[in-house]
Amino acid sequence: MLKRICLSLFSFYHFLMICPAQQKTIDQKVDSVMQLMTLEEKIGQMNQYNGDWDATGPITKDGEKQNQIKKGYVGAMLNVSGAGHTRALQEIAMQSRMKIPLLFGQDVIHGYRTIFPIPLAEAASWDMEAIQKSARIGALEAAAAGIHWTFAPMVDIARDPRWGRVMEGAGEDPFLGSLIAAARVKGFQGKGLGNTDAVMACAKHFAGYGAAVGGRDYNSVDMSLWQLHEIYLPPFKAAAAAGAATFMNAFNDLNGIPAAGNKYLQTDILKGRWDFKGFIVSDWGGVGEMINHGYAKNSEEAARLAVNAGCDMDMESRSYINHLANLVKAGKVGMQVIDESVSRILRKKFEMGLFDDPFRFSDTNREKEQWDNQANLVAAKEMAKKSIVLLKNDHLPGQSTPVLPIDRSVKKIALIGPLVKAKSENLGFWSFDWPDDENRIVSLWEGVQKKLGKGATMLYAQGCDITDTSRLGFAAAVATAMLADIVIVSVGERRDMTGEAKSRSDLHLPGVQEKLIQALQATGKPLVVMISAGRPLIFNWTAEHVPAILYTWWLGTKAGDAMADVLFGDYNPSGKLPMSFPLAEGQLPVYYNHFNTGRQAKDDNDRMYRSAYTDLSIYPAFPFGFGLSYTHFSYSDIQLSRSSIRPVDSLRASVTVTNNGKFDGKETVQLYIHDLFASVVRPVKELKGFKQVALKAGEKIRVEFMITAADLRFYNDQLQYIYEPGAFEVFIGTNSRDVLKTAFQLVE
Ligand code: BGC
Repeated sequence: MLKRICLSLFSFYHFLMICPAQQKTIDQKVDSVMQLMTLEEKIGQMNQYNGDWDATGPITKDGEKQNQIKKGYVGAMLNVSGAGHTRALQEIAMQSRMKIPLLFGQDVIHGYRTIFPIPLAEAASWDMEAIQKSARIGALEAAAAGIHWTFAPMVDIARDPRWGRVMEGAGEDPFLGSLIAAARVKGFQGKGLGNTDAVMACAKHFAGYGAAVGGRDYNSVDMSLWQLHEIYLPPFKAAAAAGAATFMNAFNDLNGIPAAGNKYLQTDILKGRWDFKGFIVSDWGGVGEMINHGYAKNSEEAARLAVNAGCDMDMESRSYINHLANLVKAGKVGMQVIDESVSRILRKKFEMGLFDDPFRFSDTNREKEQWDNQANLVAAKEMAKKSIVLLKNDHLPGQSTPVLPIDRSVKKIALIGPLVKAKSENLGFWSFDWPDDENRIVSLWEGVQKKLGKGATMLYAQGCDITDTSRLGFAAAVATAMLADIVIVSVGERRDMTGEAKSRSDLHLPGVQEKLIQALQATGKPLVVMISAGRPLIFNWTAEHVPAILYTWWLGTKAGDAMADVLFGDYNPSGKLPMSFPLAEGQLPVYYNHFNTGRQAKDDNDRMYRSAYTDLSIYPAFPFGFGLSYTHFSYSDIQLSRSSIRPVDSLRASVTVTNNGKFDGKETVQLYIHDLFASVVRPVKELKGFKQVALKAGEKIRVEFMITAADLRFYNDQLQYIYEPGAFEVFIGTNSRDVLKTAFQLVE
């Protein structure tokens, strides 16, 4: 009663002031607001529009957006950023009857102003602190530009590099993927929603999107529930547990039901079993696309199916804004369903402090400070160095040291290839191009130039372009190489060759780039190949013949500085592959945590009536977890503290790691487990732990892991998460292939 009197006398904001924030819980405040809202205003909160300057799907332009905002028919915008722009739109929202602030969302995937390595590259660092910091900085910069909400992290497990979106995730492993999901959520959300430098995270794409048949983006996904729960859902669960404010559903149909209309995923698992309190947004137009899937007859039915399945906000398909009111009036969607979604959305707006001050993120001073934040650039360089993976580093015949690192006293160095002087390519997909990028982004050429100063002669030839079929530039490239003491070849993909809608069936180095490498290798000069790409590529000739290979992915604004540090040994590479690299597309999907099958091949000579190819190895070119260092780590003396444990016990697994090379270095020690016999078959290896250790040259340490029954759990055929007594193998090593092995028993 008191409330009603308050509200009839004062505006809504006066009401909030009279009934101060501290005295009411957020749920009570949400209820107070909702009591005043019309059905149409409620549905407006569930509607998200694009700002129309950047689109990742079909655009529905009707020029009416501002009017709709004024009426309170829009809850969130995407692709509107900048303190000025966001303020201007928020001012329009403040003219609406209820004055409910808009949310501004944006794909801040690996940085905003300062671009960090693509997420797959960051995953190669296996460094949770650095990954969290990268997300933190992205949030800091984005929040200062008026952004409340990032559509990240993408936590889709990806086993098939044909799928262009592998660049956006953490690779193939659910354990590593879960840790990274949590680190990114924590990074984006910082000290918690309500701080003006915290943006809401959005775990996407729920769920299964990474398992698109044939690696073709947007394609169907058909998988057992076992696989869904065991492999694809854990990173989502970790993101929810880390407090992700929002989730985005996916474009794919999962076992016949489009994700946007999938009740099992959204209501039963996420909001039910995992008790997720945030809201779910659809992917771009995903609600309406259920018509194309053949699941909804029209957009009205699509709205009904999606909202009843638990999708709270419709991104750009307009199915909700056009049909939900009628559906409610016709009794096809319950009012409580709408109320539930709206309260989830409003709760986040309250938590973000937007009801207190709708403009708190649109602060031009803060925006200016973050625009030129030098500390962010330093962090981007650190992250970039950690993301580089050394794939090969051999000695040349007659030489006592491997090709890398390059001696800084080198006199003549040739940099050859289409990416040597590349600038914006280094940003990779899902990044922002700023007008002053030319000055900020460091190319490989510039990085090396800074490193060597005037002491060395740097030579350059392009050789070919990325997708060229012509070899006309080869002669000049070879002639340039002939003049040099060492040749660095920079090849790869274009940045827009991976990413959304960038599935490819041919994963070889594009164009004639590998032919260029062959021509340069024939000069007999020491060659270092640097591969920049958003996904695992195939480069078998290079892997076999060229002595040194660095996989640099897309490293962001400070790419060239990071590459130069690694080339000249100022940073000893420590990255480890978060995805298996295939030998051929015909192997795909190829991943380390596969089952044994009834006819496993012992090796590639064992093919007859085996689970093998008659014409191709079963092994990847480079396994999951692989990555070399300029030094050499050897593993010895794997031990378990006991040979059997009960479910209440724990077990210590340990190994000696020795740096017996000439450089100080960092190693990621990996622990895998294999459940030998179980009521459902188990993967040959599963990552269950890793530790990063820094060892001086000559130093050795004992690295320990604790194993408990919790590490032995899996989903049985009833989808119960259990462990079963029996024998387990334990592997510890430098990657998923090169390991030491021991075993123990779990007893009742
Ligand atoms: C992508 C999402 C993205 C959205 C908004 C879609 O096409 O699949 O990941 O967040 O566009 O840009």
